[in-house]
Amino acid sequence: MEQMMKDIEHVLVSRERLDARVREIGRQITEDYAGRDVVLVGILKGAMPFLCDLMRAVDLPVTIDTMCVSSYGSGTVSSGSVNIKKDLDKDIRGKDVIIVEDIIDTGITMAALVPLLRQRGASSVELAICLDKKERRVKDVPVKYVGFEVPDEFIVGYGCDYAEKYRNLPEVCTLKSEVYTRA
Ligand code: IMP
Ligand code: MG
Repeated sequence: MEQMMKDIEHVLVSRERLDARVREIGRQITEDYAGRDVVLVGILKGAMPFLCDLMRAVDLPVTIDTMCVSSYGSGTVSSGSVNIKKDLDKDIRGKDVIIVEDIIDTGITMAALVPLLRQRGASSVELAICLDKKERRVKDVPVKYVGFEVPDEFIVGYGCDYAEKYRNLPEVCTLKSEVYTRA
């Protein structure tokens, strides 16, 4: 990862800490959802690394689906709707849905998505989010499973991108400011 690490300021969460925490969350989900019909819904594209690791840490016969969404409006607008760029493949009626996401910031996207999936008749909808930028929250959304709290800085790696890049960094990092100030 030498090429990409040149652009990195700090490693916030190491591979080892990620692995350990994701395994813990997997164990917790295994306990909490025993005997239920679970769908892990990964939010593309950021959730990919977390989803891949988390699903293998859950010892239940879950199914996997994906959505690609973005919230309407700016971070300070209390928008209640999401723009669905790719919808679920399967019906979630009667299912226990766990939305799997890389990072929660204002909470606007998840605050809109959770009620939408409930309306579709899911038995339950909860959130498993790897990184929580808690101090930025404007919408109060309960997150059942949180990996790590992160500071209000620009985060890349383990699914998080800057201009679609750095998602493939195996650790959670902050970018050098020269990267986003250079043209
Ligand atoms: P929200 O503000 O909670 O609706 O966050 C929506 C989306 O913003 C997240 O799913 C991420 O895709 C993106 N995002 C927020 N903070 C960061 C960051 O620090 N790095 C990369 N993406 C971020
Ligand atoms: Mg995202």
